[in-house]
Amino acid sequence: MASLLHRHKVIERNVTLLAIFAFLVVAIGGIVEIAPLFWIDSTVTKVEGVRPYSPLELAGRDIYVREGCYGCHSQMIRPFRDETERYGHYSLAAESMYDHPFQWGSERTGPDLARVGGRYSDEWHVQHLKDPRAVVPESIMPPYAFLADRDLDLSHIGDHLAALRRVGVPYSDEDIAKAADDAAAQASGEGDTAGLAKRYPKEQARDFDGNPGRLTEMDALVAYLQGLGTQVDFKAAAPREEKR
Ligand code: HEC
Repeated sequence: MASLLHRHKVIERNVTLLAIFAFLVVAIGGIVEIAPLFWIDSTVTKVEGVRPYSPLELAGRDIYVREGCYGCHSQMIRPFRDETERYGHYSLAAESMYDHPFQWGSERTGPDLARVGGRYSDEWHVQHLKDPRAVVPESIMPPYAFLADRDLDLSHIGDHLAALRRVGVPYSDEDIAKAADDAAAQASGEGDTAGLAKRYPKEQARDFDGNPGRLTEMDALVAYLQGLGTQVDFKAAAPREEKR
């Protein structure tokens, strides 16, 4: 034992040797942590109900990113009591597995939006986005009224789905071919809504912006917001949760 400690002194007194050994130890630790990730199929546990965004939701998500909503809103409910009581069940990794990039965010000037879907009516969202202070007098959120006047550009939506497929989102050829039609059907509730519902279970199809006959960016953004956090059925999963 004493001789072992003595030999350790050699390392402690030679800074180059110490650096080499320290590097080796850290490298082994790093490999042990990182290497398994290359061999397991998925680091995210699949959860029933989670599906890729419908084309309209995806277009809405793009507007969310374009307008920088993530600068003030997170989409990640942490597993703390104050958060779950306010926002609902804590976020699961699977719920953002088709988000590229994910919208967890790190700043909450406004509330977390991970489960805002279904919490308010479409009319509330439209009013709130046009003029936040009309519905929440103390709000400091900027107005986005122009979204209601801008036609939604769907010319590249199929390409967008195809690009996401390349990074692992399971869109089928049919999904990609019908993307623009699906978006139009979801924003009006007319057209091939049966096919849309088959491709994107639990999607909500209706006129979102209160302006039927015109497909605007407001339609897409509200469709996206109304879908947030609604894919997983936590009521069905609740009994299993409580047993923990
Ligand atoms: C400067 C910061 C800021 C930006 C940028 C911002 N918001 Fe907000 N948002 C807030 C604040 C503060 C609130 C809380 C007061 C209110 O309801 O207006 C809020 C509330 C909300 C709510 C209601 C949430 C709830 O649970 O009550 C929604 C939905 C929302 N914002 C969506 C958006 C969207 C979509 C965008 C981008 C187009 C956006 N916000 C951009 C600050 C911001």
